[in-house]
Amino acid sequence: MPPDKTYHMTPEQFRHYGRAVVDWIADYYERIETLPVLSRVKPGKIREALPTEAPGKGEALETMLKDIDKVILPGVTHWQSPNFFAYFPANASGPAILGDLLSSALGVQGMLWATSPACTELETHVLDWLVPMLGLPQKFLSTSAGGGVIQDTASSSSLCAMLAARERATNYVSNRRGCDGHLIAYTSNQAHSSLEKAAMIAGIGKDNLRLVEVDERFAMRSDALKCQIEKDRQSGLIPFFVSATVGTTSSNALDPLPAIGAICREKGIWFHVDAAMAGTATLCPEFRYIQDGVELADSYTFNPHKWMFTNFDCNCFYVADRKALIDTLSILPEYLRNTATESGAVFDYRDWHIPLGRRFRSLKLWFVIRYYGVEGLQYHVRRHIEMAQQFAKWVKQDNRFELAAPTPLNLVCFRHRDGDENNQCLMNRLNQSGDLYLTHTRLNNRFTLRFCVGQTNTTQRHVEQAWKRIQEEAGKL
Ligand SMILES: Cc1ncc(COP(=O)(O)O)c(C=O)c1O
Repeated sequence: MPPDKTYHMTPEQFRHYGRAVVDWIADYYERIETLPVLSRVKPGKIREALPTEAPGKGEALETMLKDIDKVILPGVTHWQSPNFFAYFPANASGPAILGDLLSSALGVQGMLWATSPACTELETHVLDWLVPMLGLPQKFLSTSAGGGVIQDTASSSSLCAMLAARERATNYVSNRRGCDGHLIAYTSNQAHSSLEKAAMIAGIGKDNLRLVEVDERFAMRSDALKCQIEKDRQSGLIPFFVSATVGTTSSNALDPLPAIGAICREKGIWFHVDAAMAGTATLCPEFRYIQDGVELADSYTFNPHKWMFTNFDCNCFYVADRKALIDTLSILPEYLRNTATESGAVFDYRDWHIPLGRRFRSLKLWFVIRYYGVEGLQYHVRRHIEMAQQFAKWVKQDNRFELAAPTPLNLVCFRHRDGDENNQCLMNRLNQSGDLYLTHTRLNNRFTLRFCVGQTNTTQRHVEQAWKRIQEEAGKL
């Protein structure tokens, strides 16, 4: 045998380069405000700057870091900029980044309890912490018949909710034979597109997802839901799943959970609640009213990776009856059999979601909760909401603008009174300036600007500057 040779990074080199990368990250956060928020590259430019072929010989990490600055950063839209007000946030924080780094270092694949007990038990524990932290019902605790799991995204967990609902409604027959086109799901016409995708993937079919009308506040009309369910029943169809939203993507509308939940209970329909971004607001008791009625839900999803300072990806999914979820997704091939699973005393999270493999995501969430404490998390969420409310007041005071929807939390939907074209032009100019980034939606078929305050490092100063820039550009229309 020839003498051993290695291409691997030694622990000593890792220590050295690790420090360089951490320094790079700290520097990035220090200068992030000076970078244009929205990337200005033209399609294909990043690839043009990259070699056509992979390097035959390994390169120095210094060179790679230089390329991060030279090649990659121009193509980055700075989601972590305090001037990012677009979409919903996908915020990061120091403790989350460090927790994620440790998760990468441990490199655990936590598909079964047995493949790393800490990965499963920390996850169960942190998800149990969140139940009282968010004022969620006790039935979502792992010590009850329910429990929580971390998934990649709200899209995946809403799909899992739909699958479990499908199986419960068909007595686990559709898992064996497929769907027969009779199952009908419901959500509002303002719900996130992930529900439509779930209906496609779950074999329900897009045409069998009813998009229920909304009221003037863009919230689902429970009377319309009830009528539609009755109509479908009379046609021999089987209503099996309703998804209500707490904080819709377009306008942060709040569906009336008590009325929707009561309909679901009466008709034996699975009731899912999607609180992807707004769920984080319930860290503060004064905002828990937004989820009144969640005690009627069969499942609930929210994303710490949006507004809770935990970098992507981290979604928390809760069910009231974990058996329904596990019976839907469980498959136990011979090569995964082990005594812990067989004993029934442990959770094997591979049965709670779609992939088999899973990362140690709870580490970053655990770090965030411990570093900030409930008090710190509440403080920053309250500040974001106060700043958005202040922004909404400024909009109201400027008679060139109007609010386009209620502003219960941290999203302000507004528009210039001079029509769609001017609003589009205003948004493009602001975004091209690099000073801030905001996005749009259509409400009542009118072009509407969305201004969401939720980025980790946004302060009063950033919101003031943004409003000043909006006013300046409006003056040039
Ligand atoms: C209400 C709502 N639900 C679901 C999603 C999808 O989230 P994810 O990217 O985690 O799938 C979003 C994303 O913005 C959302 O706003």
